[in-house]
Formats: sequence, C-alpha cells, structure tokens
Amino acid sequence: MERIGVIGCGLMGSGIAEVLARSGLDVLVVERDQGALDLGRQRVNASLTKARAAGKISVEDAEDAGSRLRFSTDFAELSEFPFVIEAVAEDLAVKLDVFHRLDETMVDRGAILASNTSSIPIATLAAATTRPENVVGLHFFNPVPVMKLVEVTPSLLTSEATVTAAHALASEQLGKTPISSPDRAGFVVNALLIPYLLSAIRMFEAGVATAQDIDTGMTLGCAHPMGPLALVDLIGLDTTAAVAESLYAEFREIHFATPPLLARMIAAGQLGRKSGQGFYSYRQ
Ligand code: NAI
Repeated sequence: MERIGVIGCGLMGSGIAEVLARSGLDVLVVERDQGALDLGRQRVNASLTKARAAGKISVEDAEDAGSRLRFSTDFAELSEFPFVIEAVAEDLAVKLDVFHRLDETMVDRGAILASNTSSIPIATLAAATTRPENVVGLHFFNPVPVMKLVEVTPSLLTSEATVTAAHALASEQLGKTPISSPDRAGFVVNALLIPYLLSAIRMFEAGVATAQDIDTGMTLGCAHPMGPLALVDLIGLDTTAAVAESLYAEFREIHFATPPLLARMIAAGQLGRKSGQGFYSYRQ
C-alpha cells in the first residue's frame, strides 16, 4: 500500500496523518471546511517541527513526511484510495454521514474503512455502508506519535482479511503494538480508564482534594506518567464525556455516568488544553 486517507484533522487525525506520513505513506487528509483544514495542517506541521527540534526525527525525515501530506475538503479525492481512517468528532450522526459518504465515494470494493472511534460500535458504523466486511476499528492513543498502542476492533461482520490488514498497518507499517479488542463500548482500554477519570473528577467535585494533589497522588503514588485530571485536559473534556456517555448507554452502570461538574465545564467551553482551560489553565 502506498497511499492512505485520513478524515478529520483534529487532535487525533493530525497525529494519525503524521505517523502515516512518517512511515512512508502518501497521505490525503480530508477536513470539513477550509478553516478546519488550515488548523489541522498547522497542527501537523507544529508537531513535525517539535519532533525535529527534539531530535526525534532528522530534518530530512521531517521534510519527507511533510511532502507526503496533502490536504483537501473534497471527499471525492479519496475515490481511488485503498484504505481510509476516519477520525472526525465522536458524534454518531457525523460519523454515520462520513461512512455513508465514503461508501458512495470509494470505488475499490476492497477498500478498507477504519474508524478511530473511542466508543461507537463498529457494527453501527459498518451498517451505514454496503460493505460491512471492510469496516474495522483502529483506535490510536493520544499523542499518536508517542503512544505505541492501537486497538483493532472487528464487528461481527468484519472479514478476516480486513482484520489482518488493520493489524499489519499498525504493526508492520507504523511500528505500533496492536491488541485485539471486542466491539463493545470502550473496547479494552477506555472501559477501564473512563471510570478512573470520572472518579477523579467526582473526588475533585466533592472537594476531597485539589486537582494538583489528586494528580500528584497518582503520578508519584502509582507511577502514572500523568495524573487523571491532567489526562482529561489532554483528551478533551468533551471527548471524555462523549466516551462516558457511550459506555453508560451500553452498560447502564453508575461508574460510567458523567459527573455534573464535567457537564458544566463543557457547557462553559472549558474543554481542556484545546480550549486553553480545563482543570488547569493553558493560557499563556
Ligand atoms: P477533535 O474535535 O480534535 O477533531 C475532530 C476533527 O474532525 C475536527 O478537526 C473537525 O473539523 C473534523 N470533522 C468534523 N466533521 C467532519 C466531517 N464531516 N468531515 C471531515 N472532518 C470533520 O476530536 P479528536 O479528539 O481528534 O477525536 C477524533 C476521534 O478520535 C473521535 O472519534 C474520538 O473519540 C477519537 N479518539 C480521541 C482521543 C483523544 O484523546 N482525544 C483518543 C483516541 C480516540
């Protein structure tokens, strides 16, 4: 495979596009409008510049990756691609629309349609297409250039060939470590992680400890690289809540319920790092 498409160039799509380009693939990134596309391009370029400055990649490799990335707002440009990874916002209606459009656009009936969704059933996305055997979950972790894990999730209808291709892309092409995960909300990692993050928010909301003390407790007490509230800020409060809601809708278990504080912070536009304010301030 020489080329691949990425839909959505936010936090995750930009990271996915970067690692694909760095692995030697030609990448076409499709965004919904010019404004989002410009932001996405800036995000990828800033990350490549940072990696170069930190000595993680050479000047030549950064330039080579940059030259492999193309940006567009036109889905039709994906028509001949063999593989696309969808990374638009965690919104069912938006994702269903994207899968429907990809199904109409992509000419090769063998083309693989992967989703980076954190919580929407792969079977639901597959049902928006006429080729459910080619639809698979490919769940990267944030920040994508750094995190090694990819969860590969087939639905009941995904073919063996599609699963094999998804594992091969993750491991052989990108050097990541794939694990097989079930088509259940939260897959493996978020089903464990989200209740932990929500518990930290409830602890903070109840005034049990400060955000700093909760995070210091978990970094120094449990050797986590980052505390739970800083991690929610990194993931995005809206994305965290969206994943929690999917888990709650599927399992109806109280530890997946969104704490009121999380909902109020989102209503106030405090989405974490991406908005400049979450449990911590990121404004310069
Ligand atoms: P984000 O909000 O940063 O980015 C979403 C991007 O999708 C935006 O740039 C937006 O313009 C674009 N978009 C929206 N509708 C579109 C359309 N119809 N066509 C093309 N582009 C469109 O969201 P983020 O955090 O990157 O999440 C994306 C996906 O990755 C979600 O499914 C999320 O659950 C998943 N994910 C998020 C992680 C995180 O830490 N934030 C971790 C792993 C997965």
